[in-house]
Amino acid sequence: MRIFSGIKPTGDSTLGNYSGGFRQYVATQELGDATFCIVDLHAITVPYDPADLHSRTLDLFSMLIATGLDPERTTVFAQSHVTAHAEASWLLSAVAGYGQLGRMTQFKEKGGEQEFVASALFNYPVLMAGDILLYQADIVPIGDDQRQHLELARDIAERFNSRFGEIFTVPNGFYPEVGARIMSLQDPAAKMGKTGSSEQGTVRMLDAPDAILKKFKTAVTDSGREVRKADDKPGISNLIDIMSVATGSTPAQIEAEYGDAGYGTFKVAVGEAVVALLEPIRERYVELRSDEGELLRLLALGADKARATSAPTLERMYETMGFVRARDGA
Ligand code: TYM
Repeated sequence: MRIFSGIKPTGDSTLGNYSGGFRQYVATQELGDATFCIVDLHAITVPYDPADLHSRTLDLFSMLIATGLDPERTTVFAQSHVTAHAEASWLLSAVAGYGQLGRMTQFKEKGGEQEFVASALFNYPVLMAGDILLYQADIVPIGDDQRQHLELARDIAERFNSRFGEIFTVPNGFYPEVGARIMSLQDPAAKMGKTGSSEQGTVRMLDAPDAILKKFKTAVTDSGREVRKADDKPGISNLIDIMSVATGSTPAQIEAEYGDAGYGTFKVAVGEAVVALLEPIRERYVELRSDEGELLRLLALGADKARATSAPTLERMYETMGFVRARDGA
């Protein structure tokens, strides 16, 4: 089984990224040949500061290790270190529909907010499809917000396979049963995101314990007082999901334990569980982040492995598409 996923080095990672991303990466690295990519090329699709991109790439790499990836065993690398990604993106744009790209929710949301919309933002899902297809991934651990992009990657793979030749594995999304979409603590209708959502509603992986506790204490809850998952209780449902992510208990177990406790007590308990989850991660992170030499060594190791894995697929893409290869006459 081949596993691939990517995460953007934009903004500070959140508890949402932990739920749909980090913890799933760690779980799936046990299932087979796993590759995880810091998608720095994706980070330039919205306005950004070059100095920030530089430090955030190392921050995110440290966080991937701190949450449990083993870079000696699993391939963990930066996208820009492997030029196959940029190449695959261009080649696949021949089978990516303009209309379909324009219908992507994230493009419409992010593009709609800005005066200047980079063409890179429009092409973003093609680059993402290339990321996945280059590694012939069977499963792609992601959160719910990436579902549409994953469907597009599947369409692109199928279109390429039928137009040029069966060279790509058609990937499947791998979503957590609970916590595929963690919502803002201040607005249960909005996704908890690295950028865009309110700071008070967003729990960051590196937030200090007292800041985390405060965010949970002031979390918006619904009318009523029973701790129970329900469609008309998005605030409390979100907190139950977070509690489940932090402790490993199922939502049903949590409802049984806190059903009559009242919202105030439950909010404090969730805050404490999240602090207990994140504290050891934060400690490991601080230690890892302080040794840039070691981070760069491990990134180079990951890049070598990723280049070796992706190169044969890229070569087959060029060949099936009819390109004359430089070595053809040699
Ligand atoms: P990114 O960097 O926005 O997010 C990384 C992962 O975190 C998940 N996630 C969430 N899960 C649950 N609740 C939330 N509130 C939440 N917020 C974020 C995301 O679903 C994602 O799995 N386009 C991708 C990066 C990418 C990629 C790829 C992913 C590029 N190429 C190839 C998979 C395969 C993105 O922006 O993720």
